[in-house]
Amino acid sequence: MFLSKGWQMRSTEYGIDDLFLKRFSPKHFLDKPLGEKDLCAVLEAAMTAPSCFNEQPWRFVLGPKEDFLEILSTKNADWAASAPLLMMVCSTQTFSYNRKPNRWHAFDSGTAMAFLIVEASKRGIYVHPMGGFSIDRAKERFGLMGLEPHAVLALGYSDEPHTMTTRVGLDEIVIDCRES
Ligand SMILES: Cc1cc2nc3c(=O)[nH]c(=O)nc-3n(C[C@H](O)[C@H](O)[C@H](O)COP(=O)(O)O)c2cc1C
Repeated sequence: MFLSKGWQMRSTEYGIDDLFLKRFSPKHFLDKPLGEKDLCAVLEAAMTAPSCFNEQPWRFVLGPKEDFLEILSTKNADWAASAPLLMMVCSTQTFSYNRKPNRWHAFDSGTAMAFLIVEASKRGIYVHPMGGFSIDRAKERFGLMGLEPHAVLALGYSDEPHTMTTRVGLDEIVIDCRES
């Protein structure tokens, strides 16, 4: 369910899209599978993200839910079990055109994840990213030849009210050097 009546959500001062206001990272998901078309669409949205030299270093690993639950920290695995779909965001680490290290690979893969989340939100699907997992177990379980794992994503339909985590203000995140 995507924000039913009475559930709280963020507000906007400058009129940003509802998608950003409704998005949050739930820990309770409805027992409702994600359609294959929706899955392909969120991955396609990720595919359109910008990247340094258009390298597109992001890789999305799909697999059995049980495999992901085994690599997650116990705390994450406890709640993530209710998500109908788990996947992992990884990236390649070198530029394909010269084989040199790509120091933007994680940055670009984070951007792709954000694109995925926005398309998911548009479809009423929530995404909860997790950094709490074992990289060694991920490599062992999924192979991941030459890939760096970044986050496991839980996707599904939320079964809880919007948890409004706090945000620091624009005055803290913007360094405005336009006028001296
Ligand atoms: C890279 C990354 C790693 C995260 N790791 C975890 C995690 O291991 N467990 C968890 O419950 N949430 C995790 N989160 C979710 C954040 O805690 C959450 O996004 C943040 O508190 C803001 O809340 P919101 O997404 O509901 O707005 C992670 C988010 C990101 C982007």
